[in-house]
Amino acid sequence: MKLTIALLAGDGIGPEVIDQAVKVCNAVATKFSHEIDWRPALTGAAAIDAVGDPYPEETHEICISSDAVLFGAIGHPKYDHDPSAKVRPEQGLLKMRKKLGLFANVRPTFTFPSLIDKSPLKKERIEGTDLVFLRELTGGIYFGERGRKDGGHTAYDTCTYTRKEVERLARKGFELAQKRSGKLCCVDKANVLESSRLWRETVQQLEKEYPDVSVSYEFVDAVAMRLVQWPNEYDVLITENLFGDILTDEASVISGSMGLMPSASVGESIGLYEPIHGSYPQAAGKDIANPLATVLSAAMMFEDFGLAEEAGAIREVVHRSLEQGMVTEDLADGKKTYGTSEVGDWLAAHL
Ligand code: IPM
Ligand code: MN
Repeated sequence: MKLTIALLAGDGIGPEVIDQAVKVCNAVATKFSHEIDWRPALTGAAAIDAVGDPYPEETHEICISSDAVLFGAIGHPKYDHDPSAKVRPEQGLLKMRKKLGLFANVRPTFTFPSLIDKSPLKKERIEGTDLVFLRELTGGIYFGERGRKDGGHTAYDTCTYTRKEVERLARKGFELAQKRSGKLCCVDKANVLESSRLWRETVQQLEKEYPDVSVSYEFVDAVAMRLVQWPNEYDVLITENLFGDILTDEASVISGSMGLMPSASVGESIGLYEPIHGSYPQAAGKDIANPLATVLSAAMMFEDFGLAEEAGAIREVVHRSLEQGMVTEDLADGKKTYGTSEVGDWLAAHL
């Protein structure tokens, strides 16, 4: 297969972890006789510095004319401490999600048997955890009307959802639940928010089209608590943009390191694959960042290309690296640790 992949390294540790994913993808391509044409493009703070726009039109053109986008991270501390900044790197990510129609963010949470003791949660609670969040990604409070009034002394952000937005995300949730255990949880705050009541109503109406899926409705605050108490009770969870942002960071604790959790954003056409961790600026350039979340995101990309064997090979070599202690310092446990690029080289060589 000939694959054209847009490569958006972004900021912070983005370029380092992306480099390792590229090594691994190239090794997969050699092993399975594929050809990958990588097309690097600018995003985030790097793009602001270069051309004044965190998601330049040229980058968008490269993305839409590729088969997929592999993405590192976006964000830079110089903007975090400047609330008056007019252009922010994160705007690039939001613009990209919107313009590429990536309305569903698929974020799996699972445990690795060899890392079970890395989690701060009790082993018997988290063993066997295997759940997937479908986070709505192009609506809600992230994209609603916002602003200031009263001479700047009052600020507002609004959360708006249309039935159509809820329905298309929910259908993906039902379909995924059908392929898994048939359990779907709709996470909302319907006891308070009107937008949540629309979510609940829309999902309830869809239930009859999917008689083989059993749906539970839970409030987001309760899910935040139960998720770390009884993660095994969940399988597929659907939720709106902000709730999904928060809960998926929380869920990453179950696996033991945020540096392990991949994601796929899909929707109208091409998919975008990115680690759920951010740009982690404190670690940038130090060769200490964990590349596995990005490598596992690449596995999700191969899966979506219909190349399940290739995806399986990546996951298998990742498991092997963990078992053999070929890990970065976030997973080291006082034992010898390896650099970001050493882990990438090892994975590529052992594929
Ligand atoms: C994520 C990130 C982004 C988000 C930020 C960087 C805008 O936290 O992908 O979860 O909030 O969606
Ligand atoms: Mn987030």
